[in-house]
Amino acid sequence: MKIAQRAERIEPFYVMEVAKAAASLAGKVAHTSDPMIFLNIGEPDFTAPPLVQEAAARAIRQGATQYTQAMGMVELREKISGWYASRFNVDVAPSRIVITAGASAALQLACLALIEAGDEILMPDPSYPCNRHFVSAAEGRSVLIPTTAEERFQLTRAKVEAAWGEHTRGVLLASPSNPTGTSIAPEELQRIHEFVHGRGGITLIDEIYLGLSYEEHFGHTALAMPGELGQNIISINSFSKYFNMTGWRLGWLVVPEVLVPVIERIAQNLFICASTVAQHAALACFEAESLAEYERRRGEFRARRDYFIPELNRLGLTVPVMPDGAFYAYADCSHIARRWGIADARPDGTGGSWDFAFELMKRAHLAVTPGRDFGHAAPEKYIRFSTASSMEHLREAVKRLEAVIG
Ligand SMILES: Cc1ncc(COP(=O)(O)O)c(C=O)c1O
Repeated sequence: MKIAQRAERIEPFYVMEVAKAAASLAGKVAHTSDPMIFLNIGEPDFTAPPLVQEAAARAIRQGATQYTQAMGMVELREKISGWYASRFNVDVAPSRIVITAGASAALQLACLALIEAGDEILMPDPSYPCNRHFVSAAEGRSVLIPTTAEERFQLTRAKVEAAWGEHTRGVLLASPSNPTGTSIAPEELQRIHEFVHGRGGITLIDEIYLGLSYEEHFGHTALAMPGELGQNIISINSFSKYFNMTGWRLGWLVVPEVLVPVIERIAQNLFICASTVAQHAALACFEAESLAEYERRRGEFRARRDYFIPELNRLGLTVPVMPDGAFYAYADCSHIARRWGIADARPDGTGGSWDFAFELMKRAHLAVTPGRDFGHAAPEKYIRFSTASSMEHLREAVKRLEAVIG
């Protein structure tokens, strides 16, 4: 069967191979004293809080399960707008908010609406792998720009300016980022957006971890930029992370007013609407009781970060820049890998952190994610830990790391 070029361009999600191996080993070691600990999973270990669960059950009981408008329920768009006002002190009109099936659908809509075949989108390396595939599904080309720890693994205006070319259409950033948990400084983001906007380009910012910030300087939305800048940025968001609703498949997109009818038309055709039950449930995310619970959980994520990252550093799995948000640590495992006699990276992507992840799985029953999926700039040096796991698991993980690393 002839497969479309578009599909051929989408690389495999290698992480899944590691996850499969981890699941298979987990079965074998489940009844030993060291069952598998999964620190490879990029989703909160919490579930939706009680009011949200009840709202979903009520919607089903009441038969509130028909399609909604493609833009999503008006009440939900108003609630999100209210959250931006109360939590981030920014005025985002509900008319600019489009409810989607997760950030994934929001990214697809934005890419399909704005990217022509051959357009180039600049993004940091490392970054969330699917982001570059949304661009290629829209027949654009992602241009990965290597970043450094000093840059918090984020783009700078200087790098964007240097990389901007004839075919560049815009930038796609994520803050806080997956896999590093680091954010772009608000001043630098504004400088990038000013440049991009000045060139008639687009700034897409994936703010899926908004709300999960642990330092005041970084915990802001790009939508708070002054005047036209804030009105023109495209922000992608989701109920998956801060609101702990990964499998409910619900997110949103904030777009400039002029883009609303375009996105609505595409959403009507491609998706009809996001899950109605999930939308009804999400209304309860903004009740005081739920918000208090989310903040309590944010405190827990922070405590885990504060415990786990210094421990990784102590063990020689160096995290070059302290994550300020999300629940990840991107740790340099190259010294330990060398000490374990692991071969350097091979052209087929094995060796280095790829082999290290499998070795760690075998030696310590710890599942982590190797850097391979996240880009091309030295992924063989890094593994990603997710701290979206209980403190008990994290303490046990440190004990096991200590035993195998020494
Ligand atoms: C940076 C980033 N963007 C988008 C997504 C997709 O999330 P969603 O569940 O909202 O589709 C993820 C999921 O891990 C992510 O880390």
